[in-house]
Amino acid sequence: CFAANAQNKPKKISPDLFGIFFEDLSYAADGGLYAELIQNRSFEYSPADNRDWNSLTAWKYQTDGFGYGIISVETAAPIHPNNPHYILLDIQDEGQKGVGLENSGFDGIPVKAGKNYDFSVFLNVISGESLPVKVALVDKNGKELGSSSFTAADKGWKKYAEQIHVNFDNDSAKLVLLIKAKGKVGVDMVSLFPEETFKNHKNGLRADLAQVIADIKPKFMRFPGGCLTHGDGVANIYRWKNTIGPVEQRVEQRNIWNYHQSVGLGYFEYFQFCEDIGAKPVPVLAAGVSCQNSGGTWKIGSTGQKGIPMDEMKAYVQDVLDLIEYANGPATSTWGAKRAAAGHPAPFNLEYLGIGNEDKITGVFEERFRMIYDAVHKAHPEIKIIGTVGPSPNGEDFEKGWKLADQLSVGIVDEHYYEKPQWFLKNTTRYDSYNRRRSKVYIGEYASWGNTLYNALAEAVYMTHLERNGDVVRMASYAPLIARIGHTSWNPNLIYFNGTKVFPTVNYYVQQQFAANAGDVYLPGMVKLKGEKTTLDTTAGTSVVKDSATGDIILKIANAGTTQISGQADLSAIGKLPESATLTVISDNPEVKNGADNPQAVLPQSSTVKLQKKWAFTVPAHSLTVVRISAG
Ligand code: AHR
Repeated sequence: CFAANAQNKPKKISPDLFGIFFEDLSYAADGGLYAELIQNRSFEYSPADNRDWNSLTAWKYQTDGFGYGIISVETAAPIHPNNPHYILLDIQDEGQKGVGLENSGFDGIPVKAGKNYDFSVFLNVISGESLPVKVALVDKNGKELGSSSFTAADKGWKKYAEQIHVNFDNDSAKLVLLIKAKGKVGVDMVSLFPEETFKNHKNGLRADLAQVIADIKPKFMRFPGGCLTHGDGVANIYRWKNTIGPVEQRVEQRNIWNYHQSVGLGYFEYFQFCEDIGAKPVPVLAAGVSCQNSGGTWKIGSTGQKGIPMDEMKAYVQDVLDLIEYANGPATSTWGAKRAAAGHPAPFNLEYLGIGNEDKITGVFEERFRMIYDAVHKAHPEIKIIGTVGPSPNGEDFEKGWKLADQLSVGIVDEHYYEKPQWFLKNTTRYDSYNRRRSKVYIGEYASWGNTLYNALAEAVYMTHLERNGDVVRMASYAPLIARIGHTSWNPNLIYFNGTKVFPTVNYYVQQQFAANAGDVYLPGMVKLKGEKTTLDTTAGTSVVKDSATGDIILKIANAGTTQISGQADLSAIGKLPESATLTVISDNPEVKNGADNPQAVLPQSSTVKLQKKWAFTVPAHSLTVVRISAG
């Protein structure tokens, strides 16, 4: 137990301080966390996504040279109006092996020997009888790695599902679908998942990448963006209802970051992932306006509307309320029933809801934000609403956003900043002067510009001060979370990956140390650094927290400076001090990075350290030290 004394009064801090922010940016969803291996599976890519793309992107017509057929992209009789494009194969001569299609995945399809892959496709046999279909994974020379065969006979769209057992490793296989008979057949939703996904959910997530995210032990996850949420025009606003239900009926969409969203990773999957990793879900919905209320005027085909027309806002507000019912309502409610139908009758326990992202605080915004805020607040006072205060703490939107938050008594506002590491070191006192009676703060996006150890340590120093101010800073999430190498639209990121490997940065390990060693009570004054004038030193930071659930006490000492630091921790207030504790250190040359070429350049090193009531320590230059004292 911890006994307080008068000067060093423990204070309660947010139990949800350190979480993650997932944005579908840099192929974070399709080609990333979403385990689908087929790119453009539903032929919905278009030049609007990316000017070089169309329905056949990542696809090729396939014949052995003897066969002949006509391939066309059609929209006349789709599986569902939400998924308008499909392929019509008109096979006039099947040749020796058949005629069909080949997909190259996202930079190739990675497969492993001995593993099974779940293949499925929707086919509509328009003419021809009992068409023999073969689906195979092949290497670049056409060598078969695994295959399966079946017969398609039904008129009208029917889903066929097969398992493919793979016998050889290959990082860039292709999937070939061949039909060996004359006939006309519609093809859509060609899909391939590894049998093993994270927690083995169907329509699931890539296991290795999801596990690295889970290992942060984040207290919450904000999703699905960022700018992605409000889009670059009213038509591009992310609508959660378009992303639930059978995948072949979801409404796909252009991604603001110049690619495509199949929305196979949709709101159900986001909630499920949050639950799987023990993170509170923090969905962010657009505040009825798109990016900077611009109406996406720089986009070809933009309507220029700055916000959702007022006569459509009632329906939009209802969508917001319906999301709360979808997450928390009983399985008998209209939207709760949809969650139950997807396999989750129990609620997802939604507690936080973000409204708006980095918006310009104009009249157009304010009118719509107020409508949404008032409706949610009235119908669901239990939901903690997170408002927005613009893209940076420097602009006029910041002031206006705070003013609006004051007027409405918004519970939490979302501040964002991307800055140099020096900024983080200079601004450690930022929240000391925040008025505790105003809105609390969620730092929804922050990062120093870089992935070196020095960047990560500047963030670590700052984070010790966030813990110190954890009564007013309720939540914080580094941004962005993940990025596919070769498709990054934003740098730096917390985790990089390719088709087969995941590369956590040094910043990742810092985030992990703070999230996995979070507390809900801040214990001031226990650690003193030698030569420290005040606790607000500019290159080092210390914090001590208690995790009430375990009773453990955690000391953090972050040193972004060039010299080692000595200090003393007064542990006499800890009633029964154990003999030793776990000591974890991240330290190296400040310029070092974990990259694809050297993924383990800096890793946390753990050992055991002997404790004393007055524990004298020395931490190296450029280091983060975390000491976890177990309550036993
Ligand atoms: O994190 C990348 C982008 O940065 C987010 O989409 C946006 O909110 C911010 O400007």
